[in-house]
Amino acid sequence: MTGSERSRTVLLVGGGGGLLGRALLEEFSPTWTIRSVHRSPVARESTLGVRWIAADLAGIRDWGPHLDGVDAVVNVAWYRWGSDPRFRLLFEGLHRLLEASRAARVPFVQVSVPPAPAQLETGIPYLTYKRRFDGAVRASGLPYAIVRPTLMFGPGDVLLGVMLRTIQRYPFFPMFGDGEYRISPVAASDVARLVVDLAAAPPSATLDVGGLASYRYRDVTDRLFELVGKRPRYWHLSPSGGVRLARLLQSLGSTRLYAYEVEWLLSDTLALPPSDRMRGPMRPVEPYLREEAERLLGRPVPELGPLAVRA
Ligand SMILES: NC(=O)c1ccc[n+]([C@@H]2O[C@H](COP(=O)([O-])OP(=O)(O)OC[C@H]3O[C@@H](n4cnc5c(N)ncnc54)[C@H](OP(=O)(O)O)[C@@H]3O)[C@@H](O)[C@H]2O)c1
Repeated sequence: MTGSERSRTVLLVGGGGGLLGRALLEEFSPTWTIRSVHRSPVARESTLGVRWIAADLAGIRDWGPHLDGVDAVVNVAWYRWGSDPRFRLLFEGLHRLLEASRAARVPFVQVSVPPAPAQLETGIPYLTYKRRFDGAVRASGLPYAIVRPTLMFGPGDVLLGVMLRTIQRYPFFPMFGDGEYRISPVAASDVARLVVDLAAAPPSATLDVGGLASYRYRDVTDRLFELVGKRPRYWHLSPSGGVRLARLLQSLGSTRLYAYEVEWLLSDTLALPPSDRMRGPMRPVEPYLREEAERLLGRPVPELGPLAVRA
């Protein structure tokens, strides 16, 4: 489809440079014109003819001109960690966008996160502002969708991809608690496909989105060792020891892992089932892990088959 045949326009807030944003570019661009708000240039956006609005969304006072001719807003912007004032400014910027969308009657798709343990829901600005904004979207009177994926995977992801590189590089990998808790990783490309459908016809609903299957965390880390040709070797930490380690790394300025992410993982609440609104086949995680290992090692790795599923 050429540019002139694209009949709808999306305002992609947070842009096409992040994990989900990159997948959204590919899913939207064949049939939608994209207008994209974010701070750093993204080469793929230029290739696809995306109009880049180079800005920190927290600083935009008047969203009116950016919404002119827009059929749907999709927000993927959020920080992985930060102080209360940092999240408050982001929340206020998004709230101005929501008010402008309401004035212009533009439907709103908000990408959020699944329910977390109570102490996190109320204890960290990452989640308190997220829930406050989700609530504002629900109360806006606009057609909306709130999409809450569990941990996503895809090229350049900061979870499974980083774990694989860490396992390849270091002799030991930290294991928080017994590793019996579960995850159901979902492909960013599958979430993107769902978001595009929802932008076209927002159901005014909240959708939790997991991957094809649930796996025991330790089975996934064992698989990562196997893929890079190593025997699993763990640095065993108690659950509280794991949180303390992440807190220490965080205090030293590391962005690899945050203490709340460890708490969330340990809570065994991340293994969501797929959404019944997902159209078409979903991508399993095993081929992705193998591709990432091959990319990392620069050579073929054996096909190890499906991971054991843990209901
Ligand atoms: N990754 C996961 O596994 C996961 C799981 C569940 C839910 N989520 C949610 O899904 C959404 C997308 O996640 P992601 O992992 O794709 O995020 P990401 O890779 O961190 O990308 C976020 C994007 O937002 C943009 N952004 C951040 N702050 C901005 C600001 N103030 N103004 C303008 N743009 C800003 C960034 O672009 P610039 O730096 O160019 O501005 C970045 O490309 C987030 O809401 C996240 O909470 C993610």
